Amino acid sequence: MILNASGCLDALTAPAVAQQLDAFVAKTVTLEPRQGNEPPRLAETDHGMLNSIGLQNPGIERFSAEVLPHLEKLGVPLWASVGGTEASDYREVCSRLARFDSIVSIELNLSCPNVDLAAGSASEIVAACREVTSKPLYAKLSPVLPDIARVALAVRGAGADGLSLVNSLRGLALDERTLRPRLGRAVGGYSGAALRPVALAAVYTCYAATQGEMPIVGMGGVESGRHALDLVACGASAIALGSVLLSDPDAPARIRAELACELDTREFAALEQARGAAHRPAER
Ligand SMILES: Cc1cc2nc3c(=O)[nH]c(=O)nc-3n(C[C@H](O)[C@H](O)[C@H](O)COP(=O)(O)O)c2cc1C
Repeated sequence: MILNASGCLDALTAPAVAQQLDAFVAKTVTLEPRQGNEPPRLAETDHGMLNSIGLQNPGIERFSAEVLPHLEKLGVPLWASVGGTEASDYREVCSRLARFDSIVSIELNLSCPNVDLAAGSASEIVAACREVTSKPLYAKLSPVLPDIARVALAVRGAGADGLSLVNSLRGLALDERTLRPRLGRAVGGYSGAALRPVALAAVYTCYAATQGEMPIVGMGGVESGRHALDLVACGASAIALGSVLLSDPDAPARIRAELACELDTREFAALEQARGAAHRPAER
């Protein structure tokens, strides 16, 4: 299953790209509208990109009334992504989404690089949302948690159905001439190629901790079928494409074809057979 990473594709301006996906994950929505951070908000760096969008979104009320009806016309299953700072915000947004049959899953963004959350609060948020919706809940975690396995187990205990791994790292780049930060907010989310080994480690660790029993959406620097296969071998059951979509609108179809080739070459009859391969003992 190939998805987009939340915030990395505007399906309403690029519907044909969204229609290459198995499901479209909407940009994180919060209870109240958010203006986002001051520009510039994007900067290219040597091994990835920086963003400080700041969760700009119209808020749940306008999302439901003005954005969702257009997303529903894409004909692709929809995932919502929910953000906030308090468990009560997340809960309220989830309860307002519960009535939309078009939303098949909810990803809880517990890891915006601009918002710090303790392990305790991650499970508190999941538990609060679990009370108000029966839709599958995916906890999206940060790769810089000191003990990501512990948080994965805590959110599972609180009622999460799956994990989305990973959100971006914190990064900063300076302007060569002025030596001033290139992003308006100085520090932003660092995503793309540099995130690949970080994402693999998070997926590998959480798959082992949960004994492969939780579905995992793996993301972080996926630019090819081989990168996708690596995440699956570490334990991902689905892949999300993020930064690559900003430069390659054909990425979903291309990576799907490359992944099929990779599976074929390695004589895996299906993606599920490759899942967790990195955990199996080496053949002698
Ligand atoms: C421009 C941009 C906006 C993003 N917005 C969100 C967001 O709204 N919610 C979220 O959970 N993650 C957001 N992310 C993080 C991505 O969903 C993803 O976790 C991260 O970029 C790692 O994947 P990648 O290396 O393939 O880009 C954003 C990333 C980028 C580059």
